[in-house]
Amino acid sequence: MKHVISAQHFDRSELLALLQKAQTMLQVKEMGGADTLRGKIMAALFFEPSTRTRLSFESAMMRLGGNVISTENAREFSSAIKGETLEDTIRVVSGYADVIVLRHHEIGAGARAAHVSSVPVLSAGDGAGEHPTQALLDLFTIHQEIGRVEDLTVTLIGDLLYGRTVHSLVYILSQFKGIRLICTAPAATSLPSDVLAYATARGVVVEQEPDLARALQSADVVYQTRVQKERFASSEEYEKNKAAYVIDQTAMTYLPPHAILMHPLPRAGEIAPVVDADPRAAYFRQSHYGVPVRMALLLRAFGQ
Ligand code: NCD
Repeated sequence: MKHVISAQHFDRSELLALLQKAQTMLQVKEMGGADTLRGKIMAALFFEPSTRTRLSFESAMMRLGGNVISTENAREFSSAIKGETLEDTIRVVSGYADVIVLRHHEIGAGARAAHVSSVPVLSAGDGAGEHPTQALLDLFTIHQEIGRVEDLTVTLIGDLLYGRTVHSLVYILSQFKGIRLICTAPAATSLPSDVLAYATARGVVVEQEPDLARALQSADVVYQTRVQKERFASSEEYEKNKAAYVIDQTAMTYLPPHAILMHPLPRAGEIAPVVDADPRAAYFRQSHYGVPVRMALLLRAFGQ
């Protein structure tokens, strides 16, 4: 079954094929959609908040002619509150839908769901673990905006410890040649050692650069992230680390003209709104690429 659980499961050739498929889906979407998944049902089961991921998956399914059943806030409003296990919920929902999109607060939830599901499970984030479909749309954004996915310097800023989109993006970039990562984060939110080891074992050059101006100067891509308030042990810990690095107009003067500024969104103060008008600010375009990329992933789930 074509589950999407970890970004580690995609090799280079599959990633390149997905980029191509997403490119086709961008055209299909612009032409008014298709009927390819008519009669199919996607269940969106979200145990954590979401705007982009859930709505872009639902939009993607509908653009392909499919139907959607959806529960947001499943932690409170599904039978989880009555004590139902994730496994039981998945066993039941896989009888109602042909594909399940799952966001959950526990690391490993996607893998647990896939283990018991009779239909493909697409993880939409498992706690502080991974967010593979976001990383795929991030890769697509880099491809669209920069024109290549190799020989790139990517500066990762913010919460590299709890930021699941960062982990998945590092796994995906590690499949390509000539990748240099510059990590700009407080020590308390630096990249987990297993993610770092995965990248370096695959030839990625990883550098630590606490100075924001220097980290921006050599970047092709800047990937700013939100400090993940909900993952910290205490609010004091969060307060100490929040907004350590803010991209404002002054910071943008260090960014090369050809470079782009990405962010998975939502932002919480780490990119000043005044930056939005800069053509290098790619984050809203990035959010829109969620639809064609998820169309491609849904087709893949159905073997197409
Ligand atoms: C991210 C997430 O949920 O991990 N959002 C998203 O899906 N675009 C990033 C975040 O919450 O900071």
